[in-house]
Amino acid sequence: MNSNDYVVIKAAEDGVNVIGLTRGTDTRFHHSEKLDKGEVMIAQFTDHTSAIKVRGKATIMTSYGEIESDNKK
Ligand code: TRP
Repeated sequence: MNSNDYVVIKAAEDGVNVIGLTRGTDTRFHHSEKLDKGEVMIAQFTDHTSAIKVRGKATIMTSYGEIESDNKK
C-alpha cells in the first residue's frame, strides 16, 4: 500500500516546519521538524504518515517533480 517514496525538503529560510500527518480515519499532526536555512530532510510516507505539510520557504523534491513552497510574508 505504501510506496515508500522519499520526499526531500531543503529549507530556504530559517524555521521551516515539516509536519507529518497521521494515516487513517483520524488526520492529525504527529510530528513537526524544524529546519534552518540550508538544512535538508529526507522523509518517507509510512504506515503512520500519509501526508506531509511544509510550512515556510523550501524546495520540495519528489518523484513527481520539484516544487517551491513559500512564506506568506
Ligand atoms: N515515525 C514517523 C513515521 O514512521 C516518522 C516520519 C516518517 C515522519 N515520515 C515523516 C515525520 C514525515 C514527519 C514527516 O511515520
